[in-house]
Amino acid sequence: MQTRLTKLLGIQYPVLMAPMFLVSNVAMVKAAAANGIAGCIPALNYRSNQELRKAMTELQAAEICYGINLIVNKSNYKFQDQLNLVLEFKVPFVITSLGNPSKVIEACKPKGIIVFCDVSTIEYAHKAAALKPDGLIAVTNQAGGHLGPLAPQELVPELIRLFPDLLIISAGGVGDYKSLNEKLELGVDGVSIGTVFIASEEADVCIEYKQACVDYSAKDIVCTNKLSGIPCTVINTEYVKKIGTQQNALQKLLSKNKTLKKWFKLWTYKRGMDTLYNSAFDAGYHNVWCAGTTIEYIDAIRPVSEIVKRIVGKK
Ligand SMILES: Cc1cc2nc3c(=O)[nH]c(=O)nc-3n(C[C@H](O)[C@H](O)[C@H](O)COP(=O)(O)O)c2cc1C
Repeated sequence: MQTRLTKLLGIQYPVLMAPMFLVSNVAMVKAAAANGIAGCIPALNYRSNQELRKAMTELQAAEICYGINLIVNKSNYKFQDQLNLVLEFKVPFVITSLGNPSKVIEACKPKGIIVFCDVSTIEYAHKAAALKPDGLIAVTNQAGGHLGPLAPQELVPELIRLFPDLLIISAGGVGDYKSLNEKLELGVDGVSIGTVFIASEEADVCIEYKQACVDYSAKDIVCTNKLSGIPCTVINTEYVKKIGTQQNALQKLLSKNKTLKKWFKLWTYKRGMDTLYNSAFDAGYHNVWCAGTTIEYIDAIRPVSEIVKRIVGKK
């Protein structure tokens, strides 16, 4: 299973433990490294700079390969502080998502920090590739979270053909050894896997969220644009059924209104993130749990080591 990704990151298997808002933590990333893959944490999982610094200090002390995920669009008002910390700690790799990654690439590359950019369309991939990152992460329509519009078979081979010098990593749809190999057969340098790690013992999210990943299956995953304004996969809980997955007429109007749309989008995003936060750590009736269709592969809450072993086919 040696690929350009395993060589670049010095890992055993061509697998990234994908960054997951509210879910990823230091314990998971350390367990990932101990089992031959590399994990990545969204900087936004830390409410303050001090907390992010503490997590990075711990990861640095562990002397492992790890990544930090930076949301690069305007909704992330902590972006510059987070980037400064990434540079100060010279983190091994960064994954950019949701916006223009130019500032990250310009600042990180001279310092030798590896940068991968999330892309979900060919048009956007051209823009990101022109900035010369180390690789592109193909966010496909099988991914959990903010999924893309294209199937892996459409997006991945085209990225490989267009950008032979960049590493291409496929995100979405992997939960076991068979599905890992299906993606590797497309010619990718690696895969990025999120959902199946939600139900890990190391995750800090509440037991109800983890158990829901065990109990629900792929057919229960729906796409909502009510959380961030961008399509996002969630488990179709009773509460999600009640509130629906589409913005109502007034919300649609506000998101198109010239003067109000900027504020409305920020407000929607903030409200959506608060809902996800409350559901992830304190389950009640208002449960909105983000997960992808790969919950199909989850049959128990397990340690990260076991989840990785199942994926890489290690006994
Ligand atoms: C609960 C959850 C939260 C996520 N949060 C983020 C995030 O903060 N940043 C990001 O770039 N991607 C995020 N993603 C997307 C993942 O990084 C990755 O693309 C996806 O999990 C791959 O698909 P899979 O869930 O089928 O493995 C999230 C996915 C999930 C399931």
